[in-house]
Amino acid sequence: MTNGHNPVVAFDAVSKSFGAKQVLSDVSWSVPEGEAVCILGRSGTGKSVTLKLIISLLKPDQGSIRVDQDEVTQLEAPRLSTVRRKIGYLFQDAALFDSLTVYENLAVPLKRLTQKSQDEIDSVVDRVLGQVGLAGDKAKMPSELSGGMRKRAGLARALMLEPKILLADEPSSGLDRITASEIDELLLRQKAEHKTTLIVVTHDVHGARRVADRLVVLDRGKVIAQGTVAEVEHSENEVARKLIGSNA
Ligand SMILES: Nc1ncnc2c1ncn2[C@@H]1O[C@H](COP(=O)(O)OP(=O)(O)OP(=O)(O)O)[C@@H](O)[C@H]1O
Ligand SMILES: [Mg+2]
Repeated sequence: MTNGHNPVVAFDAVSKSFGAKQVLSDVSWSVPEGEAVCILGRSGTGKSVTLKLIISLLKPDQGSIRVDQDEVTQLEAPRLSTVRRKIGYLFQDAALFDSLTVYENLAVPLKRLTQKSQDEIDSVVDRVLGQVGLAGDKAKMPSELSGGMRKRAGLARALMLEPKILLADEPSSGLDRITASEIDELLLRQKAEHKTTLIVVTHDVHGARRVADRLVVLDRGKVIAQGTVAEVEHSENEVARKLIGSNA
């Protein structure tokens, strides 16, 4: 906890295995409301699993996960839907509906879950597509988009319902440096203007240094360092120091 704010997401002694494979082992970290945490770590260390635990797509074997005041490990529908409604999720593979256009991918959650009129929906979709640089692409099918465009469309969809918490799994992977910094800017703007809490998994050290208030560094299922960029740079753990070392 920092600044005396309440944590909006908190892991306490969380462990998760798949069969004999222990993916997370006694993991604890939290993020205060309105702050940005970046989760760093080598491939296969449980970063995407961590995000899936937050929205209860997976359940931990042990430990507690709180989102706002709710212990999500114990929740069932419909309370779980209420918690998920606060969370926007950009999946690592973007997870767009392949048979829907970009416009429809973004409009579907608004149609299903809000009372907005068609005109209001159109204007929200246009505004957010403009923010991610896809203003001219709304009639395209996902198969007509480049990898980076799919990422940006996925990010736009995650922002549609004005989530209190945004989970972004590698929002800038596969993007050139210029587009990646635009995504970083968008994340920072989202945090500044909407007080959105950001939980961002990334391999992009440059981006993490810009976006993160705090870092959580995972390795082989454990938190090997956490804190500000400066704190992690001076961590006793060599893997953590290497992971935050500038790769610019
Ligand atoms: N549903 C699942 N069933 C079984 N094993 C899984 C499942 N999801 C993840 N795993 C395993 O958990 C481990 C961590 O996976 P995870 O996707 O969290 O890695 P990651 O840190 O996101 O890696 P990357 O940087 O490559 O995306 C991997 O060994 C993976 O095979
Ligand atoms: Mg992953």
